[in-house]
Amino acid sequence: MKIAPPSEIKLTQILPSVPILLMGSGPVPVPKEVAAANSLVVSHLGETMKQIVSRLQIMAQYVFQTSSQKIFGIAGPSSAAMEMAVTSLLWPGKKVLVLNLGTFSARFSELAKGVGAEVTEIFPDGHNPIWALDVKRALEQNHYDVLTLVQGETSCGIKNIELEKIVRLAKTYGVKTIVDAVCTLSTMPLPMDEWEIDIVVVGGQKGLSAIPGFAMVAFSEETFEYVSKREALMPHWCLDPRRAHRFWSMGEYHYTAPVPGVLAMHEALRLICNETLEKRFERHLFCSTTLQKCLQVMGLELYTPEKFRLNSVLAIKNPNKVVTKDLIYYMIKQHGLEISGAFGLDIIRIGQMGEQCRLENIRRALVAVGAGYNHFGVHLNVEEAVSEFDLIAERHSALTLFAHLPL
Ligand SMILES: Cc1ncc(COP(=O)(O)O)c(C=O)c1O
Repeated sequence: MKIAPPSEIKLTQILPSVPILLMGSGPVPVPKEVAAANSLVVSHLGETMKQIVSRLQIMAQYVFQTSSQKIFGIAGPSSAAMEMAVTSLLWPGKKVLVLNLGTFSARFSELAKGVGAEVTEIFPDGHNPIWALDVKRALEQNHYDVLTLVQGETSCGIKNIELEKIVRLAKTYGVKTIVDAVCTLSTMPLPMDEWEIDIVVVGGQKGLSAIPGFAMVAFSEETFEYVSKREALMPHWCLDPRRAHRFWSMGEYHYTAPVPGVLAMHEALRLICNETLEKRFERHLFCSTTLQKCLQVMGLELYTPEKFRLNSVLAIKNPNKVVTKDLIYYMIKQHGLEISGAFGLDIIRIGQMGEQCRLENIRRALVAVGAGYNHFGVHLNVEEAVSEFDLIAERHSALTLFAHLPL
């Protein structure tokens, strides 16, 4: 049977003429420089690519705050980066302690079980992060080869505020650490070398404001050497860091690199370097805390206590059990803006990562959330929240405008 070509299929039939503003848990909007780079294809091997990769790695060293040269890009999602990290350090007979805050922390357990490692999990007490004291207790009771944790658990908006303490503690017990910084890298401090983290994984589509489907893993030099010497076979060919090293450090063929993703990441990192991490952290903190304040003025309640609230993805209690799927659909249709629901929790989530952290985007999100809930019968103080926002934004722009003037 012959299959005829389908007729009249165009992207413009389904994509809106003005792009939806992505204010959910990722992917996030990308700067025009990233979008432009992502539309190019150059050869995946040769002198030009070698230079692109070398510059990308120098910029990545700054963003990860590591002098390690073992930073590899991956043609795949952040989960593939997690998989490269896990499968490099774990195989049958190895033991891993997984700090399980929710969906993404738990993914480490699934990955580790997949390669036959023995998995032990620590869960938080209620809406808390995992405390170093509980980790210490676990490390005293058993020997582990690896400990995994997320810096920010996107699924419930909780930040592991004792991360530094925990990774330092693991070091004293000779345990290697894998940190998921998928939604947090470049939005808040995570100095890999200073905190002595062994592996950090990140995806493109969140804090970095690059594209989905291109991730990165940074191995400390010592950890890469350890992996290089392992005798157990690597379960994955594409996700073998020793093979990735050939391309990322020597410009040799591993697999055909996702060229547009590499170029997009180059641009995303360049913009971060231009902005500087300090200023970027400040921008994220300011935008997220402004949004938090205005949401509360509006009458909404945040899911996570302030002390360990993840600023990168805000979890907000869903009042009156509104059907969040319908709320989100309404906001897309009426306001051209998308936020996220959740994995089983009665919350909505608003992202504050990369390009989402622009005052005009926050204002639009506030208005859309307020109008959305209003439509579904939850009456919030939208006007008051927006006035509060305008006041904060005005003061902020006056401050930035006059910051260079002497007192
Ligand atoms: C903290 C965290 N880790 C891992 C992932 C998985 O990312 P991906 O969907 O790119 O595999 C996500 C995605 O939302 C995340 O937020």
